[in-house]
Amino acid sequence: MERTPGRVLVIVPTYNERENLPLITRRLREALPDVHLLVADDNSPDGTGRIADELAEADDHIHVMHRTSKQGLGAAYIAGFRWGLAEGYDVLVEMDADGSHQPEQLHKLLDAVADGADLAIGSRWVPGGKTVNWPFSRELLSRGANTYVRLVLGIPVRDATAGFRAYRAATLEKIGLDDVESQGYCFQVDLTLRTVRQGLRVTEMPITFVERTVGSSKMSRKIIFEAFWRVAIWGVAGLGERFRPRR
Ligand code: GDD
Ligand code: MN
Repeated sequence: MERTPGRVLVIVPTYNERENLPLITRRLREALPDVHLLVADDNSPDGTGRIADELAEADDHIHVMHRTSKQGLGAAYIAGFRWGLAEGYDVLVEMDADGSHQPEQLHKLLDAVADGADLAIGSRWVPGGKTVNWPFSRELLSRGANTYVRLVLGIPVRDATAGFRAYRAATLEKIGLDDVESQGYCFQVDLTLRTVRQGLRVTEMPITFVERTVGSSKMSRKIIFEAFWRVAIWGVAGLGERFRPRR
C-alpha cells in the first residue's frame, strides 16, 4: 500500500528566477503529479511573476502569489504557509526555484512525514547527504553556520539552515507564525528551533544539494549578519531552559 501524507503544497519563493522557474516546475510536476505548487514571487524585476502566471494558466496544480517587493525569504514563506493552511493542505513544503533541491528527491521528505515526522528536513550534513558544485566558501559557511547553531542553541539537527523541508500543517499551527521576525535565511533556523522546542519530531533525510547553474544566489552579508545576531539572542533567551536544574 502506498503511504500518503495527505494533500501536499510545495511553496517555491522566487526572486529573479525566470530561467529556472519553468524547469523546476516541469520537474516537480513530472516527479509528483498530485502535488500542488505555489510560486511566491517578490515582484521580480526580471519578469518571473509573469512567467509564473503563464504556467498557472496552463495547469490547475500551479498557483501564484504576487508580493509587492523583495521582503526576504522568510516573509515570502510565511505568506505562502498562510495561504496553504487556509486552503486546507496537509503538508507544506519549502523548495528553492534554482534546482538545488531536486523534485525527484521530494518523495523522501513526504515518506518521512507519512512515517510520523512533524518536520522532515532534506539534509546535506547527515550520512548520505551531499553537495554538488558548491564552492568551498559556501560549504565552509554552511558547516560553520550549523556548528554555531548547534553550539549556541543546543539542538540536535545537523542541517538547521536547510531550505528543502516538509512541514505537517499541524506543526505550523502549533509553532505559530504570527511572531516570526526572521527575514532572511535564518528563518530556517528559527522554525527548526520552534519545532524542536515544541517537542515535535524532526527527521533529517539525506539529499544531494546541486548548486544552481543559472541565475545568481541572493545570499548576502546582511543575511549572514541577521542570522548571527538572531541565533545569539535565541541562545541567550533559551539559557534558562537549557541549564535549569532538573528536579
Ligand atoms: N520571494 C523571495 N524573496 N524569494 C527569495 C528571496 C526573497 O527575498 N531571496 C531568495 N529567494 C528565493 C530564490 O529565488 C531561490 O528560489 C530561493 O529563495 C533560494 O535562494 P538562493 O539565493 O538560491 O539561496 P542559496 O542557494 O544561496 O541558499 C540555499 O542555502 C541556504 C543555506 O543552507 C537555500 O536553500 C537557503 O534556503 C538556505 O538557507
Ligand atoms: Mn540557490
